[in-house]
Amino acid sequence: MLGGTDTTANLFCFIVYYLGHYPEVKQKLQQELETVFGKNLTNPVTSKGLDELRYCDSVIKEVYRHIPVFFTVGRVNVENDNFGGYNWPKGTTFQMFLSAMMMSKNYWTDPEKFDPDRFYNIEESDKYLLEKQHKV
Ligand code: HEM
Repeated sequence: MLGGTDTTANLFCFIVYYLGHYPEVKQKLQQELETVFGKNLTNPVTSKGLDELRYCDSVIKEVYRHIPVFFTVGRVNVENDNFGGYNWPKGTTFQMFLSAMMMSKNYWTDPEKFDPDRFYNIEESDKYLLEKQHKV
């Protein structure tokens, strides 16, 4: 739970930071919230409503892509492997560096650009061809 709270708190701080820097994203997000939950702040927040927040989902993903608060994940191979031109004996620890993967030109169109649209309605546009190819 410590991991779960720290990661969530940090990610939300960065979401606030990005919304402050990108007012057009904030406006689009606000519109979606009003469409789904209405303008009355006392309206109940339902699971069904949360599922409909597709732009919100895209904002969270794009912020995480820029600032992966959990920036590396580790794995240990259970048998001998050969890849990348090297032999890896079983029991080797691998660290996958998410920060680099999230900014790789091999996987992302204009990786430095902050744009939640790369996760939103991508099937309808050719703006983000790599994302489409990798089905983010
Ligand atoms: C933005 C929020 C969060 C992020 C970025 C995050 C990230 C991660 C990452 C990267 C892992 C390791 C995955 C792996 O090595 O395969 C993980 C594991 C885990 N997280 Fe989170 N987490 C978040 C929120 C939470 C929350 C809220 C909870 C609990 C309520 C939670 C519970 C767990 C548990 C139990 C594991 C271990 C899963 C396993 O080993 O099978 N996480 N998380």
